[in-house]
Amino acid sequence: MLRAENIVKRYGNLVVLKSINLIVEQGKIVSIVGASGAGKSTLLHILGTLDKPDRGKVFLDDRELTNLKGGQLAEYRNRYVGFIFQFHNLLPEFTALENVCIPAYLANHASDKDVTMRATELLERLGLRDRLHHKPSEMSGGEQQRTAVARALMNNPSVVFADEPSGNLDSRNAEELHNLFFRLRDELNQTFVIVTHNEELANMADQKVEIKDGMIVE
Ligand SMILES: Nc1ncnc2c1ncn2[C@@H]1O[C@H](COP(=O)(O)OP(=O)(O)O)[C@@H](O)[C@H]1O
Ligand SMILES: [Mg+2]
Repeated sequence: MLRAENIVKRYGNLVVLKSINLIVEQGKIVSIVGASGAGKSTLLHILGTLDKPDRGKVFLDDRELTNLKGGQLAEYRNRYVGFIFQFHNLLPEFTALENVCIPAYLANHASDKDVTMRATELLERLGLRDRLHHKPSEMSGGEQQRTAVARALMNNPSVVFADEPSGNLDSRNAEELHNLFFRLRDELNQTFVIVTHNEELANMADQKVEIKDGMIVE
């Protein structure tokens, strides 16, 4: 369903991605691994429309994403993709519940009441029933990351992209977060593309993609 064809990306003379072809199937977890500087984040950003390739195309189903611009691009990102980063990127002055509601407010489809209900359900599903009204600084690293997962899921995206989501967690919280990804795959048929240095997570994925010298070695 998500398809990248012949992706090339350079920074000046540095060719980071040489010719990447990748298919991510619905309901699967794909892990991306490789040495630091190999181009993992670059690829994730291109797949997630946060960055554009110099050559090649990305499609979701049959829709080309690499030519989306302006309002269409913003709408696509809001509606079809979710992001989770190494550092949660939650807004510090808002509560967990408010942070999770924001993507839905931006989409501007549902009533405030429906948005609050869905955000509450998601946070409860992720074990954060008692943290709804806490600000990020009042939560543990694991709780912050689970809030970021809820935020990423809020608009029921086709794909969730995660860039080293457990890179800042201790091993217990990392394992809990990884188990959560697999649970969401099984319960919601949620698709994930996850850049990780965690070998256990990488190997548990449905598909593991290694980037080396700008190419995929599977
Ligand atoms: N905006 C940029 N400008 C110049 N070089 C960049 C930029 N972003 C990434 N790079 C370079 O591209 C390479 C791949 O980066 P990145 O995708 O972040 O690697 P990874 O996530 O695998 O550690 C690195 O050598 C990095 O320095
Ligand atoms: Mg990176």
